[in-house]
Amino acid sequence: MLIRPGATRSGGTSRDLPNSIRREAGESGMTGGTPLTTVLALVLGATFALQQAGIAPRASVIEQRVDALLARMTLEEKFGQLQQLDGHADGRSRPEHVELVRSGLLGSTLNVRGARNVNALQRVALEQSRMRIPLVFAFDVIHGYRTVFPIPLGESASWDPEAVEQAAAIAAAEARAAGVQWTFAPMADVARDARWGRIAEGAGEDPRLGAVMARARVRGFQGDDYSQPDKVLACVKHWVAYGAAEAGRDYNTTDMSERTLRTVYFPPFKAAVEAGVATVMSAFNDLNGVPTSGNHFTLTDVLRDEWQFDGIVVSDYRSIVEMINHRVAENEADAARQALAAGVDMEMVSRSYVTEGPRLVKEGRLPVAVVDEAVRRVLRLKIRAGLFERPYAEESREKATLMRPEYRAAARRIAARSMVLLENDNGVLPLSPSTRRIAVIGPLADDRANMMGNWTGDGRAEDVVTVVEGIRAAVPAGSEVTYAKGLDLDVKTLSGGGQDDPETSASIEKAVGIARAADAIVLVIGETGAMSGEASSRTSLDLPGRQLELAQALVALRKPLAVVLMNGRPLSINWLAEHAPAVLEAWFPGTEAGHAVADVLFGRVNPGGKLPVTFPRTAGQAPLYYNHLPTGRPPSETDKYTSKYLDVPPTPLYPFGYGLSYTEFRLADLQLSSDTMRGAAHVTISVSVENVGARSGDEVVQLYVADVVRSVSPPVQELKGFRRVTLEPGERKRVEFTLTREDLSFYNRGMDWVVEPGEFSIRVSNSSVGGLMGRLEVR
Ligand code: BGC
Repeated sequence: MLIRPGATRSGGTSRDLPNSIRREAGESGMTGGTPLTTVLALVLGATFALQQAGIAPRASVIEQRVDALLARMTLEEKFGQLQQLDGHADGRSRPEHVELVRSGLLGSTLNVRGARNVNALQRVALEQSRMRIPLVFAFDVIHGYRTVFPIPLGESASWDPEAVEQAAAIAAAEARAAGVQWTFAPMADVARDARWGRIAEGAGEDPRLGAVMARARVRGFQGDDYSQPDKVLACVKHWVAYGAAEAGRDYNTTDMSERTLRTVYFPPFKAAVEAGVATVMSAFNDLNGVPTSGNHFTLTDVLRDEWQFDGIVVSDYRSIVEMINHRVAENEADAARQALAAGVDMEMVSRSYVTEGPRLVKEGRLPVAVVDEAVRRVLRLKIRAGLFERPYAEESREKATLMRPEYRAAARRIAARSMVLLENDNGVLPLSPSTRRIAVIGPLADDRANMMGNWTGDGRAEDVVTVVEGIRAAVPAGSEVTYAKGLDLDVKTLSGGGQDDPETSASIEKAVGIARAADAIVLVIGETGAMSGEASSRTSLDLPGRQLELAQALVALRKPLAVVLMNGRPLSINWLAEHAPAVLEAWFPGTEAGHAVADVLFGRVNPGGKLPVTFPRTAGQAPLYYNHLPTGRPPSETDKYTSKYLDVPPTPLYPFGYGLSYTEFRLADLQLSSDTMRGAAHVTISVSVENVGARSGDEVVQLYVADVVRSVSPPVQELKGFRRVTLEPGERKRVEFTLTREDLSFYNRGMDWVVEPGEFSIRVSNSSVGGLMGRLEVR
């Protein structure tokens, strides 16, 4: 019923209590001294009072409930609340969970889902455990639960926080109906190295875009009140700097200045905390030599003390005991002690807290106050989430909620909004719906499972619309849609598996034959879902296997051809960029993949997405990102002794913020409300954007700022605002941005957050390159 301390709620309705709690409340079970009824009466009485008042309980009321519970708990039960264990991949709990829950040694699970599975285990907690504390059920609902939306990197390419919020809200509604109360999302790791497989799971390379998207996702998952029956607790992860894994290799070390940490890697997390995110996940990586799951500076000094985060921190999967591998902990007891003392409240999957914790306390090596504080946070969260009042999922609601037609419609709309048009020579796209024969070719063209990318929630391949199906559904009767796979694609392809066999050659030839008979070709290639995501880093950003060869053979037919790319990271598609008539970046679009791709290919939707990440020409350029620092020797074509490579140009293949449209836009008339900023004043920057083409379409207007000179080398430019606008042909709109002193501040040499007077250059553009320039002076 209530969530954040201090939050108010109007017109509260009284909520039914589960029978089990009612029954227990009326019985006189003894719990080691004080009658259970006394404890429950206090806990429930507070709830009834609040329900009658119709307002959210004050923090002090929650604290009374927490105190009442804590006072009754044994040390073992306290550690039990800090333990989270993994269920089966299919959503069932494990047999041992029942015994652990009954004994009070388990407080949470992950992966246990589905109303029946959840209710069965919850019933043990509420009817058979001594303390009757509900479990909290977690699951990775990353880009959809049953209805799957584009991968997060794709969603961010929409530059549309409202769409992203909607996707998260639908995911929350489905997940909660299936008993999931807590998602491990959003992933807010800024990622600048395309080799890192988990770049797929985040918002890309920019802290500002990342912050906007993190906020939108938290809002979508939690709403204003995460105890509502269609909301879940969100978890911002992986705290922190995990995206900076050296060489893009997953789980690898990170080493950086506090300035970079605060300027680049913190902002999306801070935005999530400010948006009220309920939980934070500590990461796998070490940061400057200290594992982030045992890092007091990040977990307590920054998160708790500076940012006043008052939810819980959960470790990543076994990341606490992995401190032994990091060689900062001697054994599990040492790891548990360090993690708890640093500020990790709940342990995921490994069991060092429950097994070593009680002894650590008894031997005086861990203050019980530290344990109590962690338990308090967990209990507070469970109370705020309404789990005592509404611990169960309604089995009938689950069926009625999953995959509603309106959810599918939203998935289709958002997938199309996420697509980025990279190339479109001579307006080959959109295809005319009256194209008589279309050949749809490629290993991903008629694929279902891969359309969902990685982290597929409870998504089912059988629900997915393939590209072939989507195109068939889009063309008029009388048109012919043919299909050939061309070649097989799976993770083995990356190490050369199956690539030299004559069968593949024959299959490519067959596909070319089918394409030859068509009037237009759609080629669907890229990566499989499993080629990005966790533990899926690559040293190459090239198209895996013989896909380029297939593309080359098809392009050689000189027919209208569109490449639809599906991938979880930037790919170095240099040849396609130069030779393919059209390239559409579709990411992994989700359940409605085929419909959304067809919507864009035939122009029902005019693509308006923009790259949230730089596309390098080669993996050798990584990490390559637009907001880098200048060097003493900026790259120059004529001067060898400048910052560049001998073998490729210093520029990316496609810059951050880039994306084409079926129409054209013109930016004009850049104006600043004042060319000087004084004191606390802000400056309004406006520009007009006009659709000068023949179709309705969307443009993302982007504001970049660069400090000309300051005491600490500034990024060459930084995104400070953006807006996606829709314009009819001939329509013009004025877009406004507000630039504040905060936007111009940075950490100086003494690590103070300051604005230094002087000049700033302003650029308003439709990508991180080009556009209109202005100047601002700060006094
Ligand atoms: C991942 C997390 C995820 C967790 C639980 C870990 O391996 O790093 O992102 O939430 O597993 O599935």
